Amino acid sequence: MRTIIEPFKIKSVEPIYFNTREERETILSNAFYNPFLIKANDVLIDLLTDSGTSAMSSNQWAGIMKGDESYAGSPSFFRFEKVIKEITGYPIAIPTHQGRAAEKILFSILGGAGKYFISNTLFDTTRANIEFSGAAGIDLPCEEGKHPSIPAPFKGNMDVATLKRTIAEIGVANIPMVIMTVTNNSGGGQPVSMQNIKEVSAVCKENNIPFFIDACRFAENCYFIKLREAGYANIPVPQIAAELFSYADGCTMSAKKDAFANIGGFLAMKDLELANSCRNLLIITEGFTTYGGLAGRDLEAIAIGLQEVMDENYLQYRIRSIEYLTHKLIAAGVPVMQPAGGHAVYLDAKAFLPHIPVHQYPGQALACALYTEGGIRSVEIGSLMFGKYDNNNQLVPAALELVRLAIPRRAYTQSHIDYVAEVITEVFEKRNHIGGLEIIEETPLLRHFTAKLKPVK
Ligand code: F0G
Repeated sequence: MRTIIEPFKIKSVEPIYFNTREERETILSNAFYNPFLIKANDVLIDLLTDSGTSAMSSNQWAGIMKGDESYAGSPSFFRFEKVIKEITGYPIAIPTHQGRAAEKILFSILGGAGKYFISNTLFDTTRANIEFSGAAGIDLPCEEGKHPSIPAPFKGNMDVATLKRTIAEIGVANIPMVIMTVTNNSGGGQPVSMQNIKEVSAVCKENNIPFFIDACRFAENCYFIKLREAGYANIPVPQIAAELFSYADGCTMSAKKDAFANIGGFLAMKDLELANSCRNLLIITEGFTTYGGLAGRDLEAIAIGLQEVMDENYLQYRIRSIEYLTHKLIAAGVPVMQPAGGHAVYLDAKAFLPHIPVHQYPGQALACALYTEGGIRSVEIGSLMFGKYDNNNQLVPAALELVRLAIPRRAYTQSHIDYVAEVITEVFEKRNHIGGLEIIEETPLLRHFTAKLKPVK
């Protein structure tokens, strides 16, 4: 098979600023061993997130010039609404400034003390917004999803048997919603099968529990369904997406992912009563119903991006580019989540650094080593992000200690990725010299964003 090429040419470029290992050691120490606190110009290859970091197309930039900035009833809103209706089949689309604003609105209405939201795996901001409302989040990943090194086609699935048991235990009245995250970001960017979505949808219908999709990476998920699930090989991605959304009652979306936008999000749904409550809150917190927290030009960029993302030449390149890096790392013996996910490569920090105990945050230590070695910024998805303390103030670790290398859409080329593979391989060869970290300052919610750490002596 021939090389799968980037399906675009580059019209506008941004510089990368180079620095030395010694400079990076100082920068990292000044940033308290937290990559979130490093200035972007001090990063060579920024794989912190695939969120809001996409390169927009010439069509999107043209759309931005056409954006209409009317406070109410902007034509840009109606284009945005039309595209969302076409893709999801949901009659109602409510713009928000990003995904978590959609979550905040939804959980403010449905959440509260004593309520439980069940998911395959909630993303950190989703969980935080649930907990902020006083409710709790329950993750029910399937068994395959819990073992990073064992490949399976749909490791993002929810465990349906446990879902049924959990509903029986907690009681339908205390479960305002079941949420399926596609792809399963915190679970390794792994896809969810149509079969699993159908089964979860059926359980929710039987019990009268609303079922929502966290649709941030819906197109990547749909392409995996096309590649891996029987019966979908010849079905166009937009049709797969329509089927996927048809099993749910609505979705939350961060347009910073599979809409190639630098900002934006939305809620879409079927239920008019819920939508009216959402719109009331929207007006208080985000803005009027036809712009949410966005400019008219953002609505245009999102509408165009949502259509572009379903182009199968793009999706083939996208999924292949993640697989390309994953395979290079596997060939070098580096422990990675398998198979490759849709938007990121996940290093298994527990296996990479077995000499660092979980309370010394092996994932964070690895993320720091990648920065010092090659200026690569990544993010820990492990006990710094998801760890809790028990009543004795002892760390209750996360299930997995991962380091995520999220690949921004259409932003880096194959030689950037080759460089990343080289740096990770070099760090792997020197892994015995990497030490653990301890926290010196932290916040109660979402501590990983701002926590300060120092090397363990
Ligand atoms: N849901 C999922 C699955 C996400 O990955 C994110 C964001 C959100 C919701 C929230 O969206 O950022 O627009 O408010 N994920 C980013 C990431 C930040 O790096 O994975 P947002």
